[in-house]
This record gives sequence, C-alpha cells and structure tokens, in this order.
Amino acid sequence: DDVSKGTYDNYMLKEIDEQPAVLRRISEHYYHNEQASISSQLLTALQQADRLYIVAAGTSYHAGLVGKQLFEDLADVPVEVQLASEFGHHLPKLSAKPFFVFLSQSGETADSRQVLDKVRQLDCPTLTVTNVANSTLAREADFALPLCAGPEIAVASTKAYVAQIAVQAVIAQSLGIQKGLNAAKKIDIDNQLSLAANAIQTIVDQKDYLKQLTHDYFYNQIAAFFIGRGNGYATALEAALKLKEVSYIHAEGFAAGELKHGTIALIEEQTPVVAFVLEKSTAAHTRSNVKEVLSRGAHALIISKKDLSNANDQIVLADIDERLMPLVAIVPAQLFAYYAAVEHGNDVDQPRNLAKSVTVE
Ligand code: G6P
Repeated sequence: DDVSKGTYDNYMLKEIDEQPAVLRRISEHYYHNEQASISSQLLTALQQADRLYIVAAGTSYHAGLVGKQLFEDLADVPVEVQLASEFGHHLPKLSAKPFFVFLSQSGETADSRQVLDKVRQLDCPTLTVTNVANSTLAREADFALPLCAGPEIAVASTKAYVAQIAVQAVIAQSLGIQKGLNAAKKIDIDNQLSLAANAIQTIVDQKDYLKQLTHDYFYNQIAAFFIGRGNGYATALEAALKLKEVSYIHAEGFAAGELKHGTIALIEEQTPVVAFVLEKSTAAHTRSNVKEVLSRGAHALIISKKDLSNANDQIVLADIDERLMPLVAIVPAQLFAYYAAVEHGNDVDQPRNLAKSVTVE
C-alpha cells in the first residue's frame, strides 16, 4: 500500500479494499519469514503470566475484545480487556503475574501511553502491537510486534482493526503451541487468514448490493442498533462506532440479550437493527432477539455464516473458524458506514471533531 489514493476518491474505501492483502501480508510476515516469527523471549514472558491485560482505546479496544476470546481459547490464559482512559486512572488490583498487551494503530495514543508508564513503574512485562513500527508505545514496551497493515490514513480505522484481530490470533496460537495445547494445535491460523482474506474479497466485490442496503437501512435514519453475542457483540460495538464516526447517525452496539432490558423501548417502525450471528451456540437466542424487534416494527438485517431467513435481509458470510469470524463480519458494517457517510455528504476521511491519533488525555 502506498499513501496515495490511487484511483479512489478517499482513503477509507481504499483501506477497506486493502484488507484481504493485509491478511495475506500478516501470514507472510508471521508464517513464511523465519526472522520475523515471534521471539522465544516473548513467548516465555507470555507463558509466565497468570493473566493478560489488553489495554487499548476506540477501535483497538474492540479488537481487544475479540482477542480476549482468542487468547482464552487457544492459549488458555485469562484475559482482561481494559479501556486505557479508564485503566490509567483506576488501576485495579492486578494478578500476581500480569502481562500487558497494548493494542494501538498509531502507537501514540496518550491514554495508552499513560498506562504503559504506570505498569513499567510496577515492573510488569509489556508488549505493544502497533502499525507504526517506531512509535512511542513500540519503543517503550519490552516487546513490539507489527500489524503489517500499511499506512492507515482515514481517521476511521478499518484495516488496522482487522490486522489487530489477526495478529492476536497469531500470538494466541503461538502461545498455545508453546504450552502444548490441543486447541492451538488443531487450528491452522495461516490457512484461516487466507480463508478470511477470500471471504472479505467476496464482500468488497458486492459493493453495489451493500450500497443499496445502506440506503435502504440507514438513509435519513436518526438511530441504528447493532446486536450480537460473544464475538458478535464485540463486532456490534465496532460496527456502531464506525457508523457514528463517519455517518453521524446515532448508533449503539448491544449484547443481544440486553435489548429486552431497556433498549427495546427505542424500537419503532423502520428502526434499523443489524444482528451479527457468528456463533453456533447462541445463534438461536440471537435469532429470537431479531424476531422480537421485527414484531415491534424494526427493519432487521442478519449478518451470519448460515443462511437464516427470518430477517428482512441477510448477508451470508463464508464459513471460517468461528473465532475468526469477526475478521469478516465487520466488513459489511465498514461499508455501511462508508456509504452512509458518502450519501449524507460527509467528509469520509476527516470526520468532524475526530483525530487519527489522540495525543492528549
Ligand atoms: C482515535 C482514532 C480511533 C482509534 C483510537 C485509538 O480516537 O480516531 O480511530 O481507534 O484513537 O487509536 P490507536 O492509534 O491507539 O489505535
């Protein structure tokens, strides 16, 4: 990727389209290049930890929520995901052997830097996973790993989010293998990233359909809801953030089961609701939540890996390992945000009031 827009009108769409290439580059870097693999010192430090603390802000925080499940499943280590802006001021009681993972596209976010300073004073081991190799967080942590996403220029993060999930999967599986765990041996992350790249390509090749869906669901709407369970919930949070950032439509992401505890009061005729159904174990529950909103007049769209016909519309994703589905499931929502912003006449790459890198607390 280079920093020119090429044939694109703006960076956001270019960066969405680059996501298959980013996943292939991550595979290349971590699996097909001896020198770049994860160091044994890093794996040993991770193995010694009794708990991982993933610290991040904004979109990177949402990637951390997906990463938690990857680390817990593949490496059998408990994980807490913390917002840097909260954690820096209210450091909770830490476990006996904590290990800190900082996720940051820019490597410069002040909230995250503040936490890094604090935990270094406590002598805790630290890793930064960042897109900007020589950034402050990368320099100051004990270990640093690259996202390989290439320069991300649009303020709303897209390809760095997908890269953060992928690189966490690589680290989690390497740690699980180091620990001799079957869960890690049984999954081929290199192959899954290749499948995910193909699945994303299929989505970005359907732009006309996604543009039409965006118009049907979001044009002139004042609010939109995204729901899901497990990593579908994490995806819902990121999908809502994307829509807010660039289209300025008020959007909220919810754990699907929480709708009935309050938010369902906001559902009216034609309120857009997007449900991510990414896990077999909770699919029936989330589908019944979709039925509940439909019966109250919502305009509901399901994004899932199975053909589920009880919504107004659906997007069926390619079938890859459930734990990696967030890599693919976020992409239609990135395109909803993009096309809604364009249709509303907004500056897609430089949304009002936002900065790419927030260097004040
Ligand atoms: C800013 C950006 C967001 C980003 C967040 C964290 O608010 O506008 O897109 O997710 O910072 O940035 P980082 O560089 O630490 O990932």
